[in-house]
Amino acid sequence: MSTPASIIGTPTPRIDGPLKTTGAAQYAADFHFDRLVHAVPVTAPVASGRIVRLDTTAAESMPGVLLVLHHGNIGPLYRTVPGDDNATNSEGRSAFEDEIVRHWGQYIAVVIAETLEQATAAAAVVRVEYEPQPASIESALGNYTGKRKSISKRGDPDAAFASAPVKLDATYITPIETHNPIEMHASVVVWDGDRVTLYETSQGVVNHRVVISQVLGLPVENVRVVTRFLGSGFGGKLFPWPHAAMAAVAARRLKRPVKLSLDRRMMFSSVGYRPRTEQHIRLGASKDGKLLALRHDYINNSSLLDDFDEGCGEATPYLYSVANLEVTSAQVRRNFGAPMWMRGPGAVPGLYALESGMNELADALGIDPLQLRIINDAKKDESKNNIPFSSSHLRECFETGAKKFGWGRRNPAIGSMRRDGKIFGWGLAGASWVAMCLPCTATVEFCSNGRVAVRCGTQDIGTGTYTVFAQVLNDKMGVSLDRIDVILGDSSLPQGPMSGGSLVTGSVLNAIADGADEAIKRLQQVAAATEGTPVHGASPENVDFTRGRVHIKGQPPEKGAAFADILAAARLNRVSGEGKTVPSWDDPKAKDLSLHSYGAQFVEVEWEPDIARMRVSRVVTVIDAGLIVNPRAAANQISGAVVMGIGMGLLEETVHDQRTGQPINGSFVDYLVATCADSPEIDVTFLNYPDPAMGEYGARGVGEIGLAGVAPAITAAVYHATGVRVRQLPVRIEHLLQSNIVRI
Ligand code: MOS
Repeated sequence: MSTPASIIGTPTPRIDGPLKTTGAAQYAADFHFDRLVHAVPVTAPVASGRIVRLDTTAAESMPGVLLVLHHGNIGPLYRTVPGDDNATNSEGRSAFEDEIVRHWGQYIAVVIAETLEQATAAAAVVRVEYEPQPASIESALGNYTGKRKSISKRGDPDAAFASAPVKLDATYITPIETHNPIEMHASVVVWDGDRVTLYETSQGVVNHRVVISQVLGLPVENVRVVTRFLGSGFGGKLFPWPHAAMAAVAARRLKRPVKLSLDRRMMFSSVGYRPRTEQHIRLGASKDGKLLALRHDYINNSSLLDDFDEGCGEATPYLYSVANLEVTSAQVRRNFGAPMWMRGPGAVPGLYALESGMNELADALGIDPLQLRIINDAKKDESKNNIPFSSSHLRECFETGAKKFGWGRRNPAIGSMRRDGKIFGWGLAGASWVAMCLPCTATVEFCSNGRVAVRCGTQDIGTGTYTVFAQVLNDKMGVSLDRIDVILGDSSLPQGPMSGGSLVTGSVLNAIADGADEAIKRLQQVAAATEGTPVHGASPENVDFTRGRVHIKGQPPEKGAAFADILAAARLNRVSGEGKTVPSWDDPKAKDLSLHSYGAQFVEVEWEPDIARMRVSRVVTVIDAGLIVNPRAAANQISGAVVMGIGMGLLEETVHDQRTGQPINGSFVDYLVATCADSPEIDVTFLNYPDPAMGEYGARGVGEIGLAGVAPAITAAVYHATGVRVRQLPVRIEHLLQSNIVRI
């Protein structure tokens, strides 16, 4: 009897792929119900002001209009309890809470009509007068001199910096970037008496449910949130935004299902973005490249709706060995919508600054930037009393990438690498991202129809969650993928984590494995207790389970019985097991360790000075993210993130009109993201070391790590090609025109 190779680690196509490619997968706005009506928000055209008159008469008399909701008639909506981690909302206030406008695009009313066209037309004739108030809409955050929060500190970084023989002192800026999932935010709300179901595009149905129950003032059991598929989210869909409650109130008032789907322009003002960061990096080193001091002082914009801290110092405290370090944080308010975590929040902009500083320090020292990383490789987590890392292979990421990229052939002289009339620049940077197991529950069920089901209240944001969960069941049970049902995206399922932080795979796999073990054990007990089964009367230690069949240990599975036959013999509809994941902070194998993923990015740019054309021509990325369950889905995540990193490096920036505070490039026409034409060959390698602190499989998740380090590798490559140091993303033609490098 040959054991087939485990599906864990085997490239596996998406089990939900056919549903998506045939259009059968239902996204939030795809849900339709009898008598469904459409809601269209009215948004403020000013950045700051007080509503002094809101006239809905014209709108209400338009054909098909059923209701116009606003501050004056929305009725009671509540805030969520501050600090309640199970009820995290995006904005502190509720919809239409007062008559103050705090950013361009803020919802001030919502029109509900029989058709989308009628609602859109009526929304355009809601008349509003504002008393203008002062607005802060400038993008630069300026010379902040207020209080700072110390995020991490050791030694005496200021004294060490002052006396360091070699110094780097520079400020790096990342602009506001906007989440651009292909699927727009949408809520379809259906009431049944005092119970409500929301079809949402949510990265966290369980949290969404609690928030909505608190906001609407309903018992939590009266609310159900469904998100079967997401057209991505990038963090913008982690927590609810006010439009969901607006739609819910309208549907309750009208006693009809309501659909509210944002348009792309609204996606730029009312559902989050990565805030601007200005990060002051100071590095001190000995002449042979040993880091002596590291200061990372950052500031990001927040809004008048929140106190959002981007967390740029996430990776800084542990990434390199340095005795003297401090990271500090501060926020400055702007009259923009509320920021929200965006793919790799904190670490991605933070590592742009830190790794840019490391690259510039390497140049100042005359040391290869790869060598500088190796000299300062951290052997333990110096930010946490020198506790060990659970599994850390940053150095191997760099060395593997260097070999694949051909880094050893790099001529460090600016503009020196030329071919076919083009000038090539090479740059590198390191990457890191958090890892941990979150508490969660999954149930695994043998069904009488011969299928196996797994249920968990998490969701597949588009990364392959359905598939990796099925792989675990296939691995545990030997049941083929086409007989496995993965049921996610419903708040009535057992508690599952948000699709955020790249934490779902690493967390939920353990609960599924545990649930599968439990279900198998129960099935074996049932089989042994049931007359007529091949294992009837056997003691538990003599019963085995192989490829979906219960049999006597030591005998071939063919001599046993399929689980569906066991259930039939026992007259059972199903046998199930519940599994739980022990959170890292309670797990003896993890709690005294420092858990992170790592990576190294190697970028080649090609520069054509005659036409000022800069493009990324090659990327090699090496990722240390624990065991990779599905190399196909994982490589897809990493290359997608690298493409996003090319956008971050060369294209993305949300620009606010300085007259109105409007995100002036807030559309797919004007907001540039990297597309196929901008994307080169991307070579993705996984080191694939299982992390013993992550449970049975040792997987850490890969949704975000691939974006970290791309932008600083690009700016280093740009410098190498052109001699221009760009410390403010994105790199623009205007920057590059300063280059003195010419084609010979
Ligand atoms: Mo991610 S920014 O945690 O969705």
